Amino acid sequence: MIRHLLADDDLTPAEQSAVLDLAARMKADRFGFTPLAGPRSVAVLFDKQSLRTRISFDAGIAELGGHPLVVDTQVTHFGRGETLADAGRVLSRYVAAIVLRTHGDDRIAEVASHAGVPVINALTDGYHPCQLLADLLTVREHCGGTAGRTLAYVGDAANNLSHSYLLAGATAGMHVRVAGPAGFQPDPGVLDRAGKIAAGTGGSVRALVDPVEAVRDADVVATDTWTSMGQEDDGLDRITPFLPYQVNAALLGHAGPDVKVLHCLPAHRDEEITSEVLDGPHSVVFDQAENRLHAQKALLTFLLEASSS
Ligand code: CP
Ligand code: NVA
Repeated sequence: MIRHLLADDDLTPAEQSAVLDLAARMKADRFGFTPLAGPRSVAVLFDKQSLRTRISFDAGIAELGGHPLVVDTQVTHFGRGETLADAGRVLSRYVAAIVLRTHGDDRIAEVASHAGVPVINALTDGYHPCQLLADLLTVREHCGGTAGRTLAYVGDAANNLSHSYLLAGATAGMHVRVAGPAGFQPDPGVLDRAGKIAAGTGGSVRALVDPVEAVRDADVVATDTWTSMGQEDDGLDRITPFLPYQVNAALLGHAGPDVKVLHCLPAHRDEEITSEVLDGPHSVVFDQAENRLHAQKALLTFLLEASSS
């Protein structure tokens, strides 16, 4: 059976843990794993902008001995002159895996349902599971583990990062609190899925409005842009309702004394997070960014292996 990662809960707790273990080994022995030697190619397709995802997949596939094919879909027929189903079928004849950043989750589901190789979500409107593997690796490194730790995500609780924190955090046995203004709360279906996962891992999930309640005594505080890609012209006020959710020294004062701060980047400095916090002693954002590389190498290796057995 071909294994995909379309949303965070496509990995069981044991599988997520195995991917993170492998990522740590790959980080410690950066050029010691070459499962794509041949080289086998991987298509990395972008319907939206990217810096980290694009470069970390490109470098990571090369480090695994493979050949990255990084493509902006605007210069192709992908999903426009050609159906996503046909594109998925064709690409599967060329490459070992497909990595896709796109808009609606229906688009990546359509590609995956017609692909004969693993499909990896490199960010959709609904989820950002590659980011979460990097974040969890970072939490492991800085907090000594994930199970039982409290992670607070504050800001746009309706966005892809919020959903991924709920699902992947619950899978890792964390206590996840997401807080956002009314109208920017998580999808109830995602919250329900995350709650069911948490019941089996010893974690918990809560959706809150009060940012102070969310970050109180937290081990990890995370945030993200208030305006995700594709939302620039949605007509909503994406500044005023979010001002109380800015990650600044005052809000961080309610968290645990050794709190770690995450931001997936790119950061809008002095909007969702102050430069003082981003560049301050609690911030681990550049370790987090580096860990995209290691986590994605491990994920690719895991999915290829799992799909061939
Ligand atoms: N965090 C993240 O996905 O960054 P990019 O949009 O630059 O890939
Ligand atoms: N929520 C953001 C994440 C960017 C990495 C977006 O979708 O634009």
